[in-house]
Amino acid sequence: MQRTHTSNPRTLFLDTHDVARLLGAMGLPEAVTQLVGRLRADYLRWPQFDKAARIASYAEPGTIELMPISDGQQYTFKCVNGHPGNGAYGLPTVMATGALLDCDTGMIRMMSELTLTTALRTAATSALAAQALARPDSRSMAVIGNGAQSDFQVIAFYTLLGIREFRLFDIDRGASLRLQRNLAASGLADLDVRVCDSVEQAVKGADIVTTVTAYQGVAQVLSADLLEPGMHINAVGGDCPGKTELDPAILPKTTVFVEFPPQTRNEGEIQHQAADFPITELWQVLAGQRPGRADDAQITLFDSVGFALEDYSALQFLYAQATQHGVGRWVDVTPHQEDPRDLFGWLQAQGRAETVSA
Ligand SMILES: NC(=O)c1ccc[n+]([C@@H]2O[C@H](COP(=O)([O-])OP(=O)(O)OC[C@H]3O[C@@H](n4cnc5c(N)ncnc54)[C@H](O)[C@@H]3O)[C@@H](O)[C@H]2O)c1
Repeated sequence: MQRTHTSNPRTLFLDTHDVARLLGAMGLPEAVTQLVGRLRADYLRWPQFDKAARIASYAEPGTIELMPISDGQQYTFKCVNGHPGNGAYGLPTVMATGALLDCDTGMIRMMSELTLTTALRTAATSALAAQALARPDSRSMAVIGNGAQSDFQVIAFYTLLGIREFRLFDIDRGASLRLQRNLAASGLADLDVRVCDSVEQAVKGADIVTTVTAYQGVAQVLSADLLEPGMHINAVGGDCPGKTELDPAILPKTTVFVEFPPQTRNEGEIQHQAADFPITELWQVLAGQRPGRADDAQITLFDSVGFALEDYSALQFLYAQATQHGVGRWVDVTPHQEDPRDLFGWLQAQGRAETVSA
């Protein structure tokens, strides 16, 4: 095995401004393209990863999840929440942070913001799946739910699938207008963005339907009667037990593709289906081991919940970009001294040793 030990004992720290600078310098189309390349490469070596469903702490207002993964050389984790009511506190629905560690020493190589990065990696994963599953002649996409994730989804599908026509719908019209404004200012050429009055209006005739709503419960954002032959559904918003967004009657009418089955059966749209409901793993399609779309009439469904492998790829992407461009700060997350066992000596040398008297 290739050793990953580094003589640099410091940790690279990226805050959200650092990641914004990196993404700003690259431009989102380039960033999402590079990230899809990494995702594809990592999905193709799926068997090399030590995988587990994420560890979740469920509460009434939302969920906090820990997402670890390792390929034996590097270990990553993300801690992410999903609180659809957070707007009332001026906070995003989804916030995340995470780290990249060397397996041969346990050294923490990088700690980073992952809120922007989650939006980017989720959009990149959606695009990767759609490249394999959507009809190649797809040109239009309905976007149901126009919150924080949605701009990134649009940019990924514009860049990687050539989608030019976007139909937006949100129960909050202001959210759709915000998304429309942001896209108009994005500099992407030939964009045709329409704000729709209903899900039906957005979905009718769309080649791809992305659902990316936030609601802490069982919603039916998309009903089965709106399905059309040949559609690809990119279902992003339903991602924990008791939180789904598709009419369950949609599932048997589609061919369902998932990330990591043990996690998706618990968290995805298929949680309402039988334990043996047929699914295909995305990595097997990418590796050519299982068929993706069979014909132009088939309805494909990517039941996205977000898997730790995608954050592994994203953290590797950030580390490579940040070290190449000198972005971020090197911080001492762990003490380092001549005698690594003399932790107390190091503390004294910092002048911070304290005596506790009873
Ligand atoms: N699958 C993944 O990998 C992944 C990753 C990130 C986020 N998510 C999920 O995606 C969802 C969206 O995240 P976000 O950060 O954009 O949230 P957000 O709160 O910023 O936006 C959600 C939007 O959905 C709209 N909405 C709610 N119910 C709706 C309905 N019935 N019809 C139409 N619009 C509706 C809201 O008005 C809001 O504008 C969340 O549920 C989140 O948990 C999934």
